[in-house]
Amino acid sequence: YMDSQVMPREQLGVCAEGNLHSVYLMFNAEDGVESQLRPCVANVAQYIYELSDQYADSAFNGFVAIGANYWDSLYPLSRPAQLKPFPAMNADNRDAPAHEYDLFIHLRCDRYDILHLVANEVCQMFEGLVELVDEERGFQFMDARDLTGFVDGTENPKGRHRQEVALVGDEDAIFRSGSYVHVQKYAHNLSKWNRLPQKKQEDIIGRTKIDNIEYASQDKPLTSHIKRVNLKDSQGRSMEILRQSMPYGSMKEQGLMFISLCRNSEHFEKMLHSMIHGDGAGNHDHLMHFTQALTGSAFFAPSLDFMQNAAA
Ligand code: HEM
Repeated sequence: YMDSQVMPREQLGVCAEGNLHSVYLMFNAEDGVESQLRPCVANVAQYIYELSDQYADSAFNGFVAIGANYWDSLYPLSRPAQLKPFPAMNADNRDAPAHEYDLFIHLRCDRYDILHLVANEVCQMFEGLVELVDEERGFQFMDARDLTGFVDGTENPKGRHRQEVALVGDEDAIFRSGSYVHVQKYAHNLSKWNRLPQKKQEDIIGRTKIDNIEYASQDKPLTSHIKRVNLKDSQGRSMEILRQSMPYGSMKEQGLMFISLCRNSEHFEKMLHSMIHGDGAGNHDHLMHFTQALTGSAFFAPSLDFMQNAAA
């Protein structure tokens, strides 16, 4: 008991390393089911936690996250300090719309069949309490590249630093080991992107394409993606997030399921603002000319212990 007070168990999918496959399940809750949903959410999270052991060979992992607009209904007694609706923004043609869901189940594995099996099981556990409103399946493309052809995730925090970046600490004790989650489904305009010469693509990302080498600082255009998202706080420390994005889709619609995990909600919002609105001198993120955010949702992925205590 003392141990779980001191160090609540995080959901293992929050900081997990990359996988080959993913399933994203977005649910809305039926009205008035909260007292049944609380234990159900805790059971699903516990089930996912146990499967990480059972299917360790295929690196199974996942997490359950609760939508910003649904949080107070499910857990009326306490709310994560920085949990708020998705920060929708727009400037010219650059749109980051909000589209909220009550529940998000994030499942990943190196075996697609296991993922499908678990997704079915999770839906059955929730039956009668929630409605499945959206589903996407993600996949690893080439050597962990986005569909633009650029390696995605290189500058992600590594090792134990992933936990430091992604998990709430003592600043919000009840929610320790939880994580703020932001999800945006981006649809790429690949025919437009693929008409760009490679050097122009590289200038937009700020790294080389094939070899994935970072541009020298003085060569990074102010409109490049990595320039726009590489931000410092007032004390000069770099603002970090943990990205768990993966490519998704089919010939009709494809792009990046962008997923940010962080111990605060501020870093994501500042980065998105810098991409869409730019630096105040007219420099926005030119990657946005080639992709469009279709959704934007904010969640919190609590620790296992929080969900179990709240269900008791
Ligand atoms: C870096 C792609 C959206 C935050 C990168 C890199 C690529 C990339 C290729 C360079 C390699 C790496 O370090 O991972 C994309 C695509 C996006 C997208 C295709 C959407 C279509 C976003 C959004 C945010 C974001 C919405 C945050 C609001 C970052 C950060 C880095 C990064 C923090 C690391 C920057 C550094 O320190 O060098 N992204 N990204 N990205 N991206 Fe994105």
